[in-house]
Amino acid sequence: MNAQEIRNAYLKFFEERGHHAIKRAPLVLKDDPTTLFTGSGMQPMIPFLLGQPHPDGQRIVDSQTCLRAQDIDDIGDNRHTTFFEMLGNWSMGDYFKEQQIEWMFEFLSQVVGLDMSRLYVTCYIGDERYGIPKDTEASSVWKRLFEQHGLSAGEAEIGSESDGYKRGIHDDERIFYYDGSKNWWSRNGSPETTPIGDPCGPDSEMFYDFGTPHNPAFGEFCHPNCDCGRFMEIGNNVFMAYRKVADGKFEELEQKNIDHGSGLERIAAAKLGDPDVFKISLMWPIIEKLESLSGKKYDSHTESMRVIADHLRAATFLAVDGCVPSNKEQGYVMRRLLRRAIRFAFDLGIEQNFLEQVVPVIADLYRNDFPEVAENRDNVIAVLVKEEKAFRQTLRNGLKEFRKLFATAPQEPSETASLRVSNGAPAPVETRAADVSENSVSHSQNVGAKLFTLYDTYGFPVELSTEEAFRQGIELPANWREQFDTKMEEQRNRSRTATKGEFKGGLGGDSLIHKKYHTATHLLQSALRQLYGPELRQHGSNITEERLRFDFNHDGKLPEEDLRKIEDLVNAWIAEDLPVTFKEYPTQEALDMGAIGPFGERYNETVKVYQMGEGDHIASLEICGGPHVDHTGQLGEDGKKFKIVKQEASSAGIRRIKAVLA
Ligand code: ALA
Repeated sequence: MNAQEIRNAYLKFFEERGHHAIKRAPLVLKDDPTTLFTGSGMQPMIPFLLGQPHPDGQRIVDSQTCLRAQDIDDIGDNRHTTFFEMLGNWSMGDYFKEQQIEWMFEFLSQVVGLDMSRLYVTCYIGDERYGIPKDTEASSVWKRLFEQHGLSAGEAEIGSESDGYKRGIHDDERIFYYDGSKNWWSRNGSPETTPIGDPCGPDSEMFYDFGTPHNPAFGEFCHPNCDCGRFMEIGNNVFMAYRKVADGKFEELEQKNIDHGSGLERIAAAKLGDPDVFKISLMWPIIEKLESLSGKKYDSHTESMRVIADHLRAATFLAVDGCVPSNKEQGYVMRRLLRRAIRFAFDLGIEQNFLEQVVPVIADLYRNDFPEVAENRDNVIAVLVKEEKAFRQTLRNGLKEFRKLFATAPQEPSETASLRVSNGAPAPVETRAADVSENSVSHSQNVGAKLFTLYDTYGFPVELSTEEAFRQGIELPANWREQFDTKMEEQRNRSRTATKGEFKGGLGGDSLIHKKYHTATHLLQSALRQLYGPELRQHGSNITEERLRFDFNHDGKLPEEDLRKIEDLVNAWIAEDLPVTFKEYPTQEALDMGAIGPFGERYNETVKVYQMGEGDHIASLEICGGPHVDHTGQLGEDGKKFKIVKQEASSAGIRRIKAVLA
């Protein structure tokens, strides 16, 4: 039974048991401003889980495409993917725990035919603080079913994940109790972090034992929630019996629900008996295509191929659901996914027309089961190919800047450049850099900037820079990587300082003129957001005594008339002489009241919020460490006006403005 067959069998199994099969919801939910993407099968079901009658009845089943973009940098192991399908069935005030567990057991053992001796389950240990009992109801059903199947099912009280590493598994144990960090389900984790108002409850997870040896690097002993790779979570049964009403308080829902979600890809991997989800029938054809395009083998380029396969599946479905790459929200994530895929493909030596060759393979894997994929196929390919062209333009611009920075004209590859492996692919970067560095005579101090500038300012990957150096016969010093890493570390330190609340808004000092430019920067951001909307966010700021510099997400050049409007707005706020004040707030409160901060920023528990204006007329409300002037009128002293003197592209999708008070 392959993955497609498992999906269809699941839908049929639950339809035969009175469920109505519904279509998947799109990856971008129109009516849910709380999350960027559909991240679980239950998300589109929330109103019905809270009591609104579902038009198709109390029993629903589907296979929901999900995207968890927070995992993007972690893709590459054998089990994590940003995109996956969640097989889901729901009871809205109808059947409950016992029936759900019985059906799951039957589906996995009789329909999929898994080796049930490899199945382990977990249940909630209970929490007296909230008056929520240990879930012996669920465990006793599991125990009965395992024993009917001739499998012993001892129980073990674990507690937290770290308790699991200390204790491990004894003898015939098969049912494990964990605390709220593991066996409580809400859209935001444990009882403590469950959003107030959300439905939630204890859950019971199912793990498949692949029998691989325990890796003690993860902890002394293995247990179902260990990350070493022996156990893989294949599904979760949520017994949604509560709603959080206040911190520390839960009330029982009148309508108790079942929310079940299983990872289709993971059940398919369990069926194959191979813990690598990239080997299943919905993935392997993509890998095979990458092997044929690159002439390289999955076994030796595993991580790159996994990243590409995962990211392109996600991007394809985003395009099917109408998302386009951009610098905002979902579009930005889509752009990142595509660019990472193209970048990793570059490592494999695939440099041209990549998406138009791989995306059809993905579309064809889904065309029979999701008709919208077949209907939108041509458009999806066109959207993705357009992005590839644009990104290749970024790469080209990066190359142009490379030549300027290294002051070289394009030239024939040098002798060292003939150091290519026989199939025409570049030798590994580290090897090349080391090889060409032997005779290094120039650039020795600055090579690591330059590479960093290309990376930081033009989005030009460092591997491409070293590749270009190699092509042009430019000798890199042996310590180029060290220099680059130092620059990178300096930048990280700057942002770490920012997270400690010491961020000075890009200030190079704290003289009065620095403060004036800092205040002007806040007003500039507000003016930009008035014109272009709240998605516009700061992506960088730098202030000297001569000018301010401000980076923000925006596609393309700002028209002259917009620049004038922005100047007029800022000058009007200066003329109004608004008071500039600050107060400390708990971070969440600051965000809830609409205070903005730099994109991607991480904050402490409390933050300083600077306000410019008062009452109904607040020109700017920003999380910021300061310092600022006391009144906006100070910016206009000596008849000075705010003036934009330059706009340029800072990197792909990021615009840069330089402005003065003159
Ligand atoms: N909603 C549950 C989960 O995502 C099934 O694990």
